[in-house]
Amino acid sequence: MAAPSPSLLAHPFVKWPGGKRRLIKQISKIIPDKLVKGRVSNYVEPFLGGGALFFSLQSRLDVDRVLLNDKSAPLINAYRVAREDVEELIEHLRTLEETFYNRSAGRREDYYYMIRDKFNERLAKDHDSTDVEAGALFIFLNKTCYNGVFRLNKSGKFNVPYGDSGNPRICDADNLRAVSAALAPATLSHKDFKSFSRLLPELDTRSLVYIDPPYAIKNGTSGFLHYNNKIFSWKDQLELSKTVEELRSSGARIIISNAAHPDIEELYPEPKFHRLTMNRSSTIGGTESSRKRVSEYVFTSYNLPRNARLEGWGE
Ligand SMILES: C[S@@+](CC[C@H](N)C(=O)[O-])C[C@H]1O[C@@H](n2cnc3c(N)ncnc32)[C@H](O)[C@@H]1O
Repeated sequence: MAAPSPSLLAHPFVKWPGGKRRLIKQISKIIPDKLVKGRVSNYVEPFLGGGALFFSLQSRLDVDRVLLNDKSAPLINAYRVAREDVEELIEHLRTLEETFYNRSAGRREDYYYMIRDKFNERLAKDHDSTDVEAGALFIFLNKTCYNGVFRLNKSGKFNVPYGDSGNPRICDADNLRAVSAALAPATLSHKDFKSFSRLLPELDTRSLVYIDPPYAIKNGTSGFLHYNNKIFSWKDQLELSKTVEELRSSGARIIISNAAHPDIEELYPEPKFHRLTMNRSSTIGGTESSRKRVSEYVFTSYNLPRNARLEGWGE
């Protein structure tokens, strides 16, 4: 992953719930020295989302092969479009942004719902080939919907309401160009994480795998975890831990983010895994004041560097 541009380093181009922008400083510090200073044979992210860790590391690591995946096909379409047709994407986004800004507050909401309908028409189509317009509509909706949430209803339609968040930046052309360059060496896919077991023969001790699945929701103060079967069930968590265990046998350096809960601790036990706890404010929720402090676990499949007990960890 070579530096894309001397003037601007790429950063996530979508706002993504569960995105790790606030944690990347800490996570970056636990990347093994051997990988930071030498070559990385494979960089693998099966749960890419907004790609906070990938973008923060891509200019710093020297990687032979990059595999980026997320089950969400419309999200991966946006990544492919950003990589392959960035100028056309920027043109579409500029038009959407201008039309949106030129409307009064009340009429912006109507425009949002019109674009949402248009996007839903395209969602029905096959996403295996890149679709620049669908990519632009996806980014527009991500910037203008409620909290950047991407949720489909039972009929597979995007149903998130308008976010009414003032004047969101919809077309960040410089960043999109930097993103395009950063993605150039990557293989992008939209598979289920289970298919990553097949990578086992290709991984080695110079491979870095970052696993960041959707988290379960903590139920009130009881500490009980509620798993949303539609998003990522407890069965998925169990299967994921088996996939991680398989990949671990290759000696690959694996980092896993997950909810801080005894159920999760049991999935990644010591001494096979090493655990850190950190606290941050939740990025999902209504207003800033209603956002809660949440703890998260980070597990590694390798011994943590001595300086891993950092400010911000285990507060
Ligand atoms: C917590 S988010 C990842 C956030 C990301 N690390 C970031 O910084 O933005 C989890 C992601 O997993 C994806 N996902 C959910 N189920 C999946 C599955 N079975 N296989 C692969 N990806 C899945 C979701 O679409 C979501 O983008």
